[in-house]
Amino acid sequence: MALFEARDLHLRFVDRVVLENVSLAFEAGQLSGIMGPNGAGKTTCFNVLTGRYKPDRGQVLWDGQDITGRSPQAIARLGIARSFQLMNLFDEFTVFENIAIALPQTRARARNIMAQAYADPALVDEAHAILRRVGLESRADDPAKSLPYGARRALEIGVALACRPKLLFLDEPTAGLGSDGRARLADLILKLKGSITIVIIEHDMEFLFSLADQISVIHWGQVIAKGTPAALKANPWVEASNLGRLN
Ligand SMILES: Nc1ncnc2c1ncn2[C@@H]1O[C@H](COP(=O)(O)OP(=O)(O)OP(=O)(O)O)[C@@H](O)[C@H]1O
Ligand SMILES: [Mg+2]
Repeated sequence: MALFEARDLHLRFVDRVVLENVSLAFEAGQLSGIMGPNGAGKTTCFNVLTGRYKPDRGQVLWDGQDITGRSPQAIARLGIARSFQLMNLFDEFTVFENIAIALPQTRARARNIMAQAYADPALVDEAHAILRRVGLESRADDPAKSLPYGARRALEIGVALACRPKLLFLDEPTAGLGSDGRARLADLILKLKGSITIVIIEHDMEFLFSLADQISVIHWGQVIAKGTPAALKANPWVEASNLGRLN
Protein backbone atom coordinates (compact mmCIF):
# COMPACT_ATOMS: atom_id res chain seq x y z
CA MET A 1 0.00 0.00 0.00
CA ALA A 2 1.25 3.49 -0.88
CA LEU A 3 2.05 5.85 2.01
CA PHE A 4 0.14 8.68 0.33
CA GLU A 5 -2.43 8.39 -2.38
CA ALA A 6 -4.72 10.61 -4.42
CA ARG A 7 -7.69 8.92 -6.05
CA ASP A 8 -9.54 10.49 -8.91
CA LEU A 9 -9.24 14.10 -7.77
CA HIS A 10 -11.37 16.73 -9.47
CA LEU A 11 -11.21 20.45 -8.81
CA ARG A 12 -12.63 23.40 -10.66
CA PHE A 13 -12.17 27.10 -10.02
CA VAL A 14 -15.43 28.73 -11.08
CA ASP A 15 -15.77 27.54 -14.71
CA ARG A 16 -12.22 26.23 -15.08
CA VAL A 17 -11.42 22.57 -14.53
CA VAL A 18 -7.95 22.54 -12.94
CA LEU A 19 -7.71 18.90 -11.87
CA GLU A 20 -9.45 16.06 -13.61
CA ASN A 21 -9.23 12.38 -12.64
CA VAL A 22 -5.87 12.89 -10.96
CA SER A 23 -4.69 9.67 -9.30
CA LEU A 24 -1.21 9.49 -7.78
CA ALA A 25 0.49 7.10 -5.37
CA PHE A 26 3.66 7.84 -3.42
CA GLU A 27 5.45 4.82 -1.95
CA ALA A 28 7.17 5.02 1.44
CA GLY A 29 10.89 5.72 1.21
CA GLN A 30 10.75 6.64 -2.46
CA LEU A 31 11.39 9.90 -4.21
CA SER A 32 8.49 10.71 -6.52
CA GLY A 33 8.42 13.47 -9.08
CA ILE A 34 5.65 15.49 -10.67
CA MET A 35 6.39 17.40 -13.83
CA GLY A 36 4.41 19.28 -16.44
CA PRO A 37 4.21 22.65 -18.14
CA ASN A 38 3.27 26.00 -16.54
CA GLY A 39 -0.31 26.13 -15.39
CA ALA A 40 -0.75 22.35 -15.67
CA GLY A 41 -2.16 22.08 -12.15
CA LYS A 42 0.88 20.79 -10.23
CA THR A 43 0.84 23.31 -7.39
CA THR A 44 -2.95 23.07 -7.17
CA CYS A 45 -2.54 19.32 -6.82
CA PHE A 46 -0.08 19.85 -3.90
CA ASN A 47 -2.58 22.28 -2.39
CA VAL A 48 -5.28 19.62 -2.46
CA LEU A 49 -2.94 16.95 -1.07
CA THR A 50 -1.87 19.22 1.80
CA GLY A 51 -5.36 20.44 2.67
CA ARG A 52 -5.33 24.01 1.34
CA TYR A 53 -8.06 23.24 -1.19
CA LYS A 54 -10.86 20.71 -0.89
CA PRO A 55 -11.33 18.63 -4.02
CA ASP A 56 -14.79 18.67 -5.61
CA ARG A 57 -14.50 14.91 -5.99
CA GLY A 58 -11.98 12.22 -5.15
CA GLN A 59 -10.05 11.07 -2.12
CA VAL A 60 -6.74 11.71 -0.41
CA LEU A 61 -5.42 8.74 1.59
CA TRP A 62 -2.61 8.74 4.15
CA ASP A 63 -1.44 5.25 5.08
CA GLY A 64 -4.80 3.94 3.88
CA GLN A 65 -6.78 6.44 5.96
CA ASP A 66 -9.14 8.89 4.23
CA ILE A 67 -7.96 12.43 5.05
CA THR A 68 -9.86 14.27 2.28
CA GLY A 69 -10.89 17.78 3.28
CA ARG A 70 -8.87 17.94 6.51
CA SER A 71 -7.27 21.29 7.36
CA PRO A 72 -3.63 22.02 6.45
CA GLN A 73 -2.79 21.99 10.18
CA ALA A 74 -4.42 18.57 10.71
CA ILE A 75 -2.56 17.19 7.67
CA ALA A 76 0.75 18.67 8.85
CA ARG A 77 0.24 16.96 12.22
CA LEU A 78 0.12 13.58 10.46
CA GLY A 79 3.75 14.16 9.46
CA ILE A 80 3.43 15.84 6.08
CA ALA A 81 5.60 18.92 5.49
CA ARG A 82 5.94 21.11 2.43
CA SER A 83 7.98 23.89 0.96
CA PHE A 84 6.37 26.56 -1.19
CA GLN A 85 7.08 27.56 -4.79
CA LEU A 86 7.30 31.14 -3.59
CA MET A 87 9.08 31.46 -0.28
CA ASN A 88 6.29 31.97 2.17
CA LEU A 89 7.32 30.99 5.64
CA PHE A 90 4.21 32.28 7.43
CA ASP A 91 1.57 30.63 5.31
CA GLU A 92 0.06 28.79 8.26
CA PHE A 93 -0.64 32.08 10.08
CA THR A 94 -3.71 34.25 9.56
CA VAL A 95 -3.57 37.53 7.63
CA PHE A 96 -3.59 39.40 10.96
CA GLU A 97 -0.78 37.22 12.31
CA ASN A 98 1.37 37.86 9.26
CA ILE A 99 1.25 41.56 10.10
CA ALA A 100 1.52 41.04 13.86
CA ILE A 101 4.56 38.82 13.52
CA ALA A 102 6.40 41.51 11.56
CA LEU A 103 5.93 44.09 14.33
CA PRO A 104 9.01 44.85 16.45
CA GLN A 105 7.22 43.92 19.70
CA THR A 106 6.63 40.36 18.43
CA ARG A 107 10.20 40.06 17.22
CA ALA A 108 11.42 41.11 20.68
CA ARG A 109 9.25 38.38 22.25
CA ALA A 110 10.53 35.83 19.76
CA ARG A 111 14.04 36.57 21.07
CA ASN A 112 12.84 35.52 24.56
CA ILE A 113 11.46 32.29 23.18
CA MET A 114 14.84 31.74 21.49
CA ALA A 115 16.68 32.26 24.80
CA GLN A 116 14.59 29.43 26.26
CA ALA A 117 15.33 27.27 23.21
CA TYR A 118 19.11 27.74 23.58
CA ALA A 119 18.81 26.55 27.20
CA ASP A 120 17.39 23.17 26.12
CA PRO A 121 20.33 20.91 25.17
CA ALA A 122 18.18 18.27 23.45
CA LEU A 123 16.54 20.96 21.29
CA VAL A 124 19.91 22.50 20.43
CA ASP A 125 21.30 19.07 19.46
CA GLU A 126 18.30 18.33 17.26
CA ALA A 127 18.53 21.73 15.52
CA HIS A 128 22.25 21.22 14.85
CA ALA A 129 21.61 17.70 13.52
CA ILE A 130 19.10 19.17 11.05
CA LEU A 131 21.58 21.89 10.04
CA ARG A 132 24.14 19.18 9.33
CA ARG A 133 21.61 17.27 7.24
CA VAL A 134 20.99 20.32 5.05
CA GLY A 135 24.64 21.41 4.96
CA LEU A 136 24.20 24.66 6.90
CA GLU A 137 26.11 23.81 10.09
CA SER A 138 28.89 26.29 9.28
CA ARG A 139 26.34 29.10 8.90
CA ALA A 140 24.32 28.28 12.00
CA ASP A 141 24.85 31.70 13.60
CA ASP A 142 24.53 33.84 10.48
CA PRO A 143 21.37 35.93 10.03
CA ALA A 144 19.03 34.13 7.62
CA LYS A 145 18.89 37.22 5.39
CA SER A 146 22.66 36.95 4.74
CA LEU A 147 22.28 33.52 3.10
CA PRO A 148 22.67 33.24 -0.65
CA TYR A 149 19.58 32.04 -2.47
CA GLY A 150 20.58 28.39 -2.68
CA ALA A 151 21.34 28.26 1.04
CA ARG A 152 17.93 29.82 1.76
CA ARG A 153 16.38 26.93 -0.13
CA ALA A 154 18.38 24.51 2.03
CA LEU A 155 17.16 26.40 5.12
CA GLU A 156 13.57 26.09 3.94
CA ILE A 157 14.06 22.34 3.61
CA GLY A 158 15.61 22.33 7.09
CA VAL A 159 12.56 24.16 8.48
CA ALA A 160 10.34 21.54 6.88
CA LEU A 161 12.51 18.74 8.35
CA ALA A 162 12.20 20.34 11.79
CA CYS A 163 8.52 19.34 11.74
CA ARG A 164 9.87 15.74 11.76
CA PRO A 165 7.81 14.83 8.71
CA LYS A 166 7.32 11.36 7.31
CA LEU A 167 6.66 12.86 3.89
CA LEU A 168 8.12 16.02 2.41
CA PHE A 169 6.59 17.90 -0.53
CA LEU A 170 8.90 20.27 -2.45
CA ASP A 171 7.37 22.64 -5.00
CA GLU A 172 9.98 23.60 -7.63
CA PRO A 173 12.99 23.59 -5.31
CA THR A 174 15.35 24.58 -8.17
CA ALA A 175 13.39 27.77 -9.00
CA GLY A 176 15.81 30.68 -9.25
CA LEU A 177 18.93 28.55 -8.84
CA GLY A 178 21.86 28.45 -11.25
CA SER A 179 23.59 25.22 -12.26
CA ASP A 180 25.84 25.30 -9.19
CA GLY A 181 22.91 25.75 -6.84
CA ARG A 182 21.02 22.98 -8.60
CA ALA A 183 23.91 20.57 -8.23
CA ARG A 184 24.20 21.34 -4.51
CA LEU A 185 20.48 20.96 -4.01
CA ALA A 186 20.53 17.64 -5.87
CA ASP A 187 23.29 16.44 -3.49
CA LEU A 188 21.23 17.51 -0.49
CA ILE A 189 18.10 15.76 -1.74
CA LEU A 190 20.08 12.62 -2.59
CA LYS A 191 21.33 12.52 1.00
CA LEU A 192 17.78 12.83 2.35
CA LYS A 193 16.46 10.22 -0.04
CA GLY A 194 15.71 6.92 1.64
CA SER A 195 15.42 8.40 5.14
CA ILE A 196 12.21 10.24 4.24
CA THR A 197 9.52 9.94 1.58
CA ILE A 198 9.83 12.89 -0.83
CA VAL A 199 7.60 14.27 -3.58
CA ILE A 200 9.05 16.96 -5.85
CA ILE A 201 7.32 19.17 -8.42
CA GLU A 202 9.96 20.22 -10.90
CA HIS A 203 10.30 21.88 -14.28
CA ASP A 204 13.93 20.89 -14.57
CA MET A 205 13.57 17.44 -16.07
CA GLU A 206 17.24 16.56 -15.86
CA PHE A 207 17.22 17.36 -12.16
CA LEU A 208 14.13 15.24 -11.59
CA PHE A 209 15.27 12.37 -13.80
CA SER A 210 18.53 12.12 -11.86
CA LEU A 211 16.76 11.88 -8.49
CA ALA A 212 13.31 10.33 -8.81
CA ASP A 213 12.30 6.68 -8.51
CA GLN A 214 9.04 7.41 -10.31
CA ILE A 215 7.56 10.41 -12.06
CA SER A 216 4.03 11.49 -12.96
CA VAL A 217 3.47 13.98 -15.78
CA ILE A 218 0.53 16.37 -15.35
CA HIS A 219 -0.82 18.31 -18.30
CA TRP A 220 -4.11 20.24 -18.49
CA GLY A 221 -4.96 19.00 -15.01
CA GLN A 222 -4.60 15.33 -15.91
CA VAL A 223 -1.95 12.69 -15.30
CA ILE A 224 -0.86 11.88 -18.85
CA ALA A 225 2.11 9.61 -18.12
CA LYS A 226 3.70 7.78 -15.18
CA GLY A 227 6.80 5.71 -14.79
CA THR A 228 10.46 5.45 -13.93
CA PRO A 229 12.76 8.09 -15.40
CA ALA A 230 14.05 5.52 -17.90
CA ALA A 231 10.54 4.60 -19.03
CA LEU A 232 9.52 8.24 -19.31
CA LYS A 233 12.56 9.16 -21.39
CA ALA A 234 11.28 6.71 -23.95
CA ASN A 235 7.77 8.19 -23.80
CA PRO A 236 6.99 9.94 -27.10
CA TRP A 237 5.19 12.84 -25.38
CA VAL A 238 8.11 13.53 -23.08
CA GLU A 239 10.49 13.25 -26.02
CA ALA A 240 8.36 15.60 -28.12
CA SER A 241 8.27 18.11 -25.25
CA ASN A 242 12.00 18.58 -25.72
CA LEU A 243 13.73 17.42 -22.55
CA GLY A 244 14.41 20.26 -20.16
CA ARG A 245 12.37 22.78 -22.13
CA LEU A 246 8.86 21.67 -21.38
CA ASN A 247 7.26 25.11 -21.38
N1 LIG B 1 -6.90 30.00 -6.44
C1 LIG B 1 -7.09 29.91 -7.76
N2 LIG B 1 -8.20 30.43 -8.34
C2 LIG B 1 -8.39 30.33 -9.66
N3 LIG B 1 -7.54 29.73 -10.53
C3 LIG B 1 -6.42 29.20 -10.00
C4 LIG B 1 -6.11 29.25 -8.60
N4 LIG B 1 -4.92 28.62 -8.38
C5 LIG B 1 -4.51 28.21 -9.59
N5 LIG B 1 -5.39 28.54 -10.55
C6 LIG B 1 -5.29 28.21 -11.98
O1 LIG B 1 -5.18 26.82 -12.08
C7 LIG B 1 -4.30 26.45 -13.12
C8 LIG B 1 -3.20 25.54 -12.56
O2 LIG B 1 -2.34 26.34 -11.75
P1 LIG B 1 -1.12 25.70 -10.92
O3 LIG B 1 -0.53 26.81 -10.13
O4 LIG B 1 -1.59 24.52 -10.18
O5 LIG B 1 -0.13 25.27 -12.08
P2 LIG B 1 1.36 24.67 -12.00
O6 LIG B 1 1.34 23.40 -12.76
O7 LIG B 1 1.83 24.64 -10.60
O8 LIG B 1 2.16 25.77 -12.84
P3 LIG B 1 3.65 26.37 -12.66
O9 LIG B 1 4.55 25.37 -13.30
O10 LIG B 1 3.61 27.65 -13.42
O11 LIG B 1 3.91 26.56 -11.20
C9 LIG B 1 -3.75 27.74 -13.69
O12 LIG B 1 -4.47 28.05 -14.85
C10 LIG B 1 -4.03 28.76 -12.61
O13 LIG B 1 -4.23 30.03 -13.16
MG1 LIG C 1 3.33 25.59 -9.58
